[in-house]
Parts: sequence; C-alpha cells; structure tokens
Amino acid sequence: MKIIHVVGARPNFMKIDPIMAEVAASPDIFEQTLVHTGQHYDDEMSKVFFDELSIPPPDVHLGVGSGSHAEQTARVMLAFEPVLLREQPGLVLVVGDVNSTLACTLVAKKLHVPVAHVEAGLRSFDHSMPEEINRLLTDQLASLLFTTERSANENLIREGVGEEKIHFVGNVMIDTLLKHKDRAMVLDVLEHFEVEQKNFALLTLHRPANVDKPDVLAGIFAGLAEIQQRIPVLFPAHPRTIKQVRQYGFEESLTAMSNLRVTEPLPYLEFLNLMANARMVLTDSGGIQEETTILGVPCLTLRENTERPVTVAQGTNIVVGPDPQKMIDECLLILEGGDKKGNIPELWDGQAARRIVDILGKMVE
Ligand code: UD1
Repeated sequence: MKIIHVVGARPNFMKIDPIMAEVAASPDIFEQTLVHTGQHYDDEMSKVFFDELSIPPPDVHLGVGSGSHAEQTARVMLAFEPVLLREQPGLVLVVGDVNSTLACTLVAKKLHVPVAHVEAGLRSFDHSMPEEINRLLTDQLASLLFTTERSANENLIREGVGEEKIHFVGNVMIDTLLKHKDRAMVLDVLEHFEVEQKNFALLTLHRPANVDKPDVLAGIFAGLAEIQQRIPVLFPAHPRTIKQVRQYGFEESLTAMSNLRVTEPLPYLEFLNLMANARMVLTDSGGIQEETTILGVPCLTLRENTERPVTVAQGTNIVVGPDPQKMIDECLLILEGGDKKGNIPELWDGQAARRIVDILGKMVE
C-alpha cells in the first residue's frame, strides 16, 4: 500500500517521525511519500526538525507559506490535488490540527482516497480556535481515527463517528520524546542560556486568542513581569508572537523584564532538554501540555480550556487561562513546593506508532 504522509507546521514534524520509522520497517507491505505543505517555512520552524529527528527529507514540497486561513488552506488544497492525482496512494495520513491537516483531508476525501487522522477526537469545545474547526472537520471525513486518550473516543462517538473507525493507540508525540530524550539530555543548553537546573521557568506563547489581542497579551506580560522577579524566565518566541509584539509596540514591556530572556524558536532536542530541566513551564501550546506530563514537570496552561483533559486529570497540567493574577498565584504555589504530582496516561509508552502501523498493515491483508 502506498501512503502519503502530510506535514506542514512545527508540531507535525515530531508526530510523523515515529510513524514513518515504523512504516519503513515493513517495506514489503508499504511504500511511503512525505509531503511538506510549507505552512511553516523558516529554518527554525521547520528545517531544524528534519536535521535533528529521524524524518527523511520531504519527497514533495508544496511551498504554500503564510496567509489568511482561507488563503493558506486553499493554497494547500490547490497544490496537493495534482500530487494525489499523480501518486494515486491507497491512504493519506494526516496528524494534528493545523490548516494543512484539514486542507489535505478535504482534497483526499473528494478524490476518494481514505484518510487516517492521527491525534483524532481532541476537543476544546471552543469554536473560536482555528485548530478546533480543523479537528472537527478532519474527524468527520477521516476513515481511520487514531486517538491519544479515552476522552477523544467519547467525543468522536458523541459526534456520530462509527466506533469501528476509532482506535485508541496512545501518543506518537510521546514516542518521539522517549526515543530522543537521551540525546537531548546530554546537550549543554542550560549553560548556553545561563540558567540553572530547576531554577527557571520556560515560556511559550503563540495562540491567536492570546497574542492577537493586545489587551490579553498585555495582561500576560503583566503577570510575567511579577513572575520573572521570583524566577528567571526563558522565552523562545514564535514568529507570530514577535510580529504582534512589534505591531502593538510592546517591545519595551518585554525588554523591561530584566529576568526574562527572549530567544529564537528552539530546535526539538534543545527545547526538550529545557522542558525537562525547568522548574515549571508556562504555555498555550497543545503538545507541550502532554510533554510536561510525561516529564513530570509542572505546566501552567495559559488558556481558558484544554483539548487534552488527561493532562489535567492525570498529568501535571493546570489550566490557568490568561489571567495575570491566576498565573502569579499558581506560579508561587509551585515555587513554595506545591507541585502537582502526575501519573503517566494510559498507552503513553513509546509504542503508539507501532500500534498504528499494525492496524494499517491489517487493512492491507
Ligand atoms: C500553527 C497552527 C497551530 C500550531 C502552530 C505551531 C494552524 C491554524 N495553526 O499556528 O495549530 O500550534 O502552528 O507553531 O494551522 N510564521 C513565520 N515563519 C514560519 C511560520 C509562520 O514567520 O515559519 C509567521 C507568519 O507570519 C504567519 C504566522 O507566523 O503569519 C502564523 O503562522 P501560521 O502557520 O498561520 O500559524 P501558527 O500561528 O504558526
């Protein structure tokens, strides 16, 4: 069976790594092609992940770049259709919830090519998030839905997805973390950024709901201004966030925080090392909520909700929203030793990709 894998944006790369490795181990059953849509194109948002992980270079690069949601989604669709017509795969495999995920799903479905969605069924129930729209529609169209936590199965069944299509397999992002952690931990990242083990907070911020609204972003920065007086903060900033900071003229409120350091977005292994060594992580990312749970590092999620409830119910995640006072209060609790102790969620054992590929193999039999 010929599989086309789709990646487009930063969080896709670590998800496809273990799947492609497992597929490559059965060359008698599968042939695979990697399509990179080019949604993320800066070296530090894309190329570094190919350099550090074990993903082969893309066979096809669509080069769509940035744009409004409609532009980006439409450009991916236009560029992906001829690839599908030429390659005639038996399956298109998409991961996550970015615009590329939905765009390629739509194209494949209309050309009657079955779609497998990895990380299906996650729901924030917040329709103002572009990712939620991508998740809802992708899951309605996919023929095979691979889930990371049991709540996702429940969401899909509630939405009328046939139970026979849903497979709870665990978390491929965690496969990647466990596979590469030893390589990450020997890097001298702490020295490089002049931070001490378990004595700094790591921050990421890029969600439109936080960075596209000046009042919300100003509130988060007000919270950070307090927090960085108690613990140094390291902030690898997403290009979207930097762009908005400049647009709102907020550079000064960042530079005024003498104990907060802004860096470029970091490569995977360097960032993993920092997460593992941080006293706490503050983030609005989806994947980082899961990675901190596995690492046992406290995570304060700067969003009103999470589509990954297992990280709260069982992991180290606390959803604090963008409220500055809540951020400060939860941060102080952690500094006083009140860390939330977590457990490892079911099937987050490094074997998710193997389970996925076993199920794909059965389709071929
Ligand atoms: C996208 C995903 C989001 C994911 C995030 C991780 C969607 C709807 N969103 O959000 O789910 O968590 O990636 O990073 O698909 N930009 C650059 N260089 C790049 C990429 C982006 O400068 O390599 C800038 C562009 O100016 C662009 C902005 O960042 O306008 C946003 O990029 P975009 O791909 O639209 O969405 P993200 O915010 O990155």
